[in-house]
Amino acid sequence: MLEVAGIDVHFDGVVALDGVSLTVREHQIVGVIGPNGAGKTTLFNAVSSFVTPVTGTITYRGRSLIGVPTWRLAHLGIARTLQGLGLFPTLTVLENVIAGAPSRARLAADMLGFPGSDRRTETLREEAMANLTELGVADRAGAYPGVLPHGVQKRVIIARALMARPSLLLLDEPASGLSASDVNELIELLRTLRERMAIALVEHHVDMVMAVSDTITVLNLGQVIASGPPDEIRANSDVASAYLGQAVAHA
Ligand SMILES: Nc1ncnc2c1ncn2[C@@H]1O[C@H](COP(=O)(O)OP(=O)(O)OP(=O)(O)O)[C@@H](O)[C@H]1O
Ligand SMILES: [Mg+2]
Repeated sequence: MLEVAGIDVHFDGVVALDGVSLTVREHQIVGVIGPNGAGKTTLFNAVSSFVTPVTGTITYRGRSLIGVPTWRLAHLGIARTLQGLGLFPTLTVLENVIAGAPSRARLAADMLGFPGSDRRTETLREEAMANLTELGVADRAGAYPGVLPHGVQKRVIIARALMARPSLLLLDEPASGLSASDVNELIELLRTLRERMAIALVEHHVDMVMAVSDTITVLNLGQVIASGPPDEIRANSDVASAYLGQAVAHA
């Protein structure tokens, strides 16, 4: 479904990604782990056209994604959440979720109340409520994000990404700051979602990635140092030393 092959991404002389490849098949959950600054978010940024690789290819169902404008990705079936929350503070939860629907221009027209828009707005509203229900937070639809617990906000951003009805969902650190019970619920949610989409997951919560992923790619200093099923990654000594290096660096 998604094939990233040998991409390099540079920022002013810094090599953020160096020959990175990643494959995501239909309905797979693919984990991407690695220490801080390894290039995980940059990899997602390349897939979603926020940055352009200097070499390599990225294809989605056989077509190149390089140079495809970010706004088009939702139409192609690709949705992502950003590291950090990124909810609009002056919009309610429901409005934030509706804002995740593709065709922003049409949506803007609806919000301005152009003729014939009521029905479409109602449909979007219903879909947004259904997504909030699936995420277990429909009772907070009318609240403003700022007053909600972190765990609820994290669910709202996933509900928002689902408005694109993605075939491929890219999640950047969905478990960060979640309690153990929230993480367990997130694992259950991902297992449910995979029935209708593939998921690529960047996470520091390694146990969670091990629990849900079919395959895991490990980045360190912009390079793939290991790739394979969770058991193989768990037993890989290069992976252990990359994380140990981080622990020592932070000590
Ligand atoms: N827009 C940018 N401009 C310059 N350098 C950048 C930019 N984005 C990322 N980098 C650099 O690229 C490298 C990889 O960063 P990236 O954010 O992809 O890491 P990460 O694996 O997501 O880290 P974290 O776990 O902390 O989120 C880092 O050295 C970072 O400083
Ligand atoms: Mg990151």
